[in-house]
Amino acid sequence: MLPVDPAKKIAFNRHISDGDLVIVYERHDIMKAVKVCENSALQNRFGVFKHSDWIGKPFGSKVFSNKGGFVYLLAPTPELWTLVLSHRTQILYIADISFVVMYLELVPGCLVLESGTGSGSLTTSLARAIAPTGHVYTFDFHEQRAASAREDFEKTGLNSLVTVGVRDIQGEGFPDDFSGRADSVFLDLPQPWLAIPSAGKMLKQDGILCSFSPCIEQVQRCCDTLRTSFTDIRTFEVLLRTYEVREVKIDGWQTDDSGSLGSLPCKRRQLSSEEGGNGRDIPSSSTVMARPSPETRGHTGYLTFARLRSLS
Ligand SMILES: C[S@@+](CC[C@H](N)C(=O)[O-])C[C@H]1O[C@@H](n2cnc3c(N)ncnc32)[C@H](O)[C@@H]1O
Repeated sequence: MLPVDPAKKIAFNRHISDGDLVIVYERHDIMKAVKVCENSALQNRFGVFKHSDWIGKPFGSKVFSNKGGFVYLLAPTPELWTLVLSHRTQILYIADISFVVMYLELVPGCLVLESGTGSGSLTTSLARAIAPTGHVYTFDFHEQRAASAREDFEKTGLNSLVTVGVRDIQGEGFPDDFSGRADSVFLDLPQPWLAIPSAGKMLKQDGILCSFSPCIEQVQRCCDTLRTSFTDIRTFEVLLRTYEVREVKIDGWQTDDSGSLGSLPCKRRQLSSEEGGNGRDIPSSSTVMARPSPETRGHTGYLTFARLRSLS
């Protein structure tokens, strides 16, 4: 993802080379990561796609199979990587990740401490936020998970921005070398309150901690511990609502290929003439339907943020 020159990849202005990782996009819910290898081919329901046809094309290109089917080749951004990575653990998704990156006030050059690494979903976005001069030190006590995460960061080109350590952060805390050097600390641990005293020691004055927990009882214990040395303690639950918006026939809500909308709440309106809805392009029995997507993710967890209290 960030091979030789991280800034270049982030700017999405590269062409595909042999050895690159690309996201092969069929639909928003059918994507996979593929390493480009000149002599290989990808086979799917649309036919056979020769990798050699991909080399030299810009990311975002539409490429065709031997049968005329097509896919798009997208750059492996952290957003897409989160959707295709192999799940070795529960992971953070885009709604929580974007909130974390914003509230941790991450900018290029920041030093971030994280535990646990898990599948590296969050780490990937942390790394992009602090690139090209910052660093993420992420710790997991599970050796195999740490090793797999390292392999993934190598694959995605993030290895110069991320160091994965094996350590029991709840038991031992973060390594003392980081004392007073971290701009932010992120915890996704079962008992985060055990790691909070160490996190406080690691943070620079005014540094920010975030802890992700799925259960409110964990949040409560975490907040109790935070009160001793942190201020501005705030807990959020990020709920994302995505919409399906499409043209449908209005009689009886018998809609499109997917069948009936039943009694789901829908917002609908006729298209105005400016939008081409004056009977010229759109049949008069059509309307625009918008409804919350049934795929929308519900509760993932609570995000608790706190700022290290100044000693003076
Ligand atoms: C839910 S996963 C983290 C997922 C990660 N945030 C992501 O987005 O991919 C939690 C991780 O914490 C690790 N873990 C649990 N207890 C730990 C401890 N005491 N020290 C370090 N890591 C720990 C687990 O091995 C697991 O990989």
